[in-house]
Amino acid sequence: MRHFLSISDCSAEELNDLLAESISLKKLYKTGGRDVCLGGKVLAMVFEKPSLRTRISFQVAMSDLGGSSIFIRPEDIGGIGKREPIKDMARVLSRYVDGIMARTFEHNTVVELARFATVPVINALTELSHPCQAMADMLTIKEHLGQLEGVKIAYVGDGNNVARSLAFAAAKLDMKLVVASPKGYELDWGTVEKTNSIKAESVSITNDPIKAVAGADVVYTDTWVSMGQENEKQKRIKDFEGFQVNDDLLKSAPPGVKIMHCLPAYRGCEITDEAVESPDSIIFDQSENRLHFQRALVKKLMSPTA
Ligand code: CP
Ligand code: NVA
Repeated sequence: MRHFLSISDCSAEELNDLLAESISLKKLYKTGGRDVCLGGKVLAMVFEKPSLRTRISFQVAMSDLGGSSIFIRPEDIGGIGKREPIKDMARVLSRYVDGIMARTFEHNTVVELARFATVPVINALTELSHPCQAMADMLTIKEHLGQLEGVKIAYVGDGNNVARSLAFAAAKLDMKLVVASPKGYELDWGTVEKTNSIKAESVSITNDPIKAVAGADVVYTDTWVSMGQENEKQKRIKDFEGFQVNDDLLKSAPPGVKIMHCLPAYRGCEITDEAVESPDSIIFDQSENRLHFQRALVKKLMSPTA
């Protein structure tokens, strides 16, 4: 593993190793231990979009492991691909730092960074995917349900970047994912085909949220309006009617079904306050696990001994 751009690039063994390392580092840090495997190493963090969880958890992960991070906004460097080509930015940053993490609009920006960087590049969310989120989610499911194999996730909402990364995680890790979306917002057919060629019948799509949550172990949702889609907000809110994760929908799921959301949550839109605050919600464990997964990820990619 040289970069971490997409779950589809990783083998099941690599993903399971990352989960095992996340669990082991989580235990170590919870019991007051410390692993300074990244002493002196620096991660450059480029953000074209806002972030609470990703930014802070990566910063803390780097500092926990003895390294440090530099936060870069596009305006600090004259825009990504504007003041100079992305390939030059990748090569220059590689001369200064030991890893580059980037949250960008276009997925191609992280691909281009990885093509020219001589240090590892991490996808911290693009319009296409959000692999760090999906892996923290896998860690959370494993902790709460004891295993990943055979777990059924019902994702209710937009067939977006988060849904796509969950789909590849499901296919690689022997789970089932059904994505229920309104017409026109389904997970793209290319992803459904690719995931099912990795593992047959791992991922399916439907327009019926009630059918999707039947028999589910986990009900997952994300915003209806992703960053960059703000001008479609009113139309989307209307189009997603009937796809809210609320008590009514949860009645069609087995009792005790776990509720997940990558956050930030828009209460009253894709999820109700009651569902976020429910005893079955494992949403804040997901957020915490961003830190534990990303410690393992930067250790794996940037430590000379990992
Ligand atoms: N879930 C997630 O990626 O949150 P941020 O946008 O706050 O980083
Ligand atoms: N789908 C959302 C995820 C936010 C973490 C977005 O891209 O804005």
